[in-house]
Amino acid sequence: MRIAVIGPGALGTFMAALFAGENELVLLGRREMELEQVEVRGRTNIVSKIRYSTDLGELEGVELGILCTKSYDTRCAMEMIHGHMGSDTSLLSLQNGLNNEAVMTEYLGDDRVMGGVTTHGFMRTEDGKVVHTGTGYTVIGRYPGGVSSMVDRVAGIFNLAGLPVEVTDNIYGHIWNKVIVNSGINPLTALTGLKNGEVIRIPHLQWLMETVCREGANVARHEVELTGEEPAHCAAVVARATAENVSSMLQDVRNRRRTEIDCINGAIIEAGARVGVETPFNRCLYSLVKALESSYL
Ligand code: PAF
Repeated sequence: MRIAVIGPGALGTFMAALFAGENELVLLGRREMELEQVEVRGRTNIVSKIRYSTDLGELEGVELGILCTKSYDTRCAMEMIHGHMGSDTSLLSLQNGLNNEAVMTEYLGDDRVMGGVTTHGFMRTEDGKVVHTGTGYTVIGRYPGGVSSMVDRVAGIFNLAGLPVEVTDNIYGHIWNKVIVNSGINPLTALTGLKNGEVIRIPHLQWLMETVCREGANVARHEVELTGEEPAHCAAVVARATAENVSSMLQDVRNRRRTEIDCINGAIIEAGARVGVETPFNRCLYSLVKALESSYL
């Protein structure tokens, strides 16, 4: 399959390494860099020759785009890429955050947008190099729900490449679930400087994580049917599975970058206001992360 991975961060670099072997792959980014090879170490070990480009003309003839930018860049990425995408190109989001797919459908319509979540932990060490720090699960589906033959085909390609993927007819429920998991783990790690596993090892943090997750779940239930176990339990499972991971939000803070707090806890606060559910714990974590960000941005 002709695949374009958009965004050369930790997740995008991993995806490029995964798909480069059996597919015709291009990794797209905004920054000029000499990148001919990508390397994954840790739970997975892959070294792949790839083509990296800043030329959006590379999207011509691509059957599958995988959007791996930061969630606050989704609209900007869509503005840049949608005009270069053929009418047969489908786009899958594997980003953190609640509203990426909704933005994608504004540009592409419903039929070509797939949503996805992954709870694997990745850490980018330098351009083209990532460590796979925690094993999780990956789910994809037609957005906002239902089935499609393209989703089945894409799942087959993921499985063939060695990353097990489940297909769902309720991807919006999974996206909400992952956002709630992130709302509990990411700000707490970003604010304390601790790895994911500490969030369930230190009782004060575990209490806070569970409380924030329950609050998010109360909001979500007004909008969607949540999937699987209670989100607070899911967050504990993900924190355990990615115990050695430096969360993406802590990586952002350490690198003095903007965080994804707006698209995670910020999105839960917004949804809470929409459906009339108070979100004081999410507001508190949101404000603290915003204050931390403003100390260096
Ligand atoms: O944002 C992250 O870091 C990841 O989504 C997760 C699953 C919390 C692992 O660190």
